[in-house]
Amino acid sequence: MKEIKKETVLYIYESLDTLPKATINLMEHAVEARKKAYAPYSKFQVGAALLLDNNEIVIGNNQENASYPSGLCAERTAVFYAGSQYPNAKILQIAISAASLNKQTDKPIPPCGACRQAISEYELKQESPIEIFFMGEIGNVAKSNSLSNLLPFIFDKSEL
Ligand code: THU
Repeated sequence: MKEIKKETVLYIYESLDTLPKATINLMEHAVEARKKAYAPYSKFQVGAALLLDNNEIVIGNNQENASYPSGLCAERTAVFYAGSQYPNAKILQIAISAASLNKQTDKPIPPCGACRQAISEYELKQESPIEIFFMGEIGNVAKSNSLSNLLPFIFDKSEL
């Protein structure tokens, strides 16, 4: 038996205004996207904004469905749109904003496991890290320097 240890790191910023201007701008796009989410069932709204290397910002939000599993998270809505619209662009950064309509969301909400897997596909494809910033409605902002940091033991195409 041997042990495989991987270290992952998250950086926590006190508030959004301590981040660089470009990141604040990206998070503001995520907030605007969040406000347009279609989440009548969970009342949990999520917005994602992607900064691409062609300077485009692509947004997405969660889209729910009466048949619950048919809905899609904000992050995947955004990355699939970016992948379909700009297939050759690299994703530099993703900002995620999440808020419940039932209570104030005051801590960073990370992307779910399925979204991490979906984002990892693009990070591997583009061969460069994607910075991920996530937050609730208010409060701290968390930053991961890459997706692999959030999903250390990844399933990828090398297994196929
Ligand atoms: N949701 C996202 O949009 N992103 C995540 O990473 C976590 C969950 C959405 C899915 C569903 O519409 C609602 O939040 C509650 O799970």
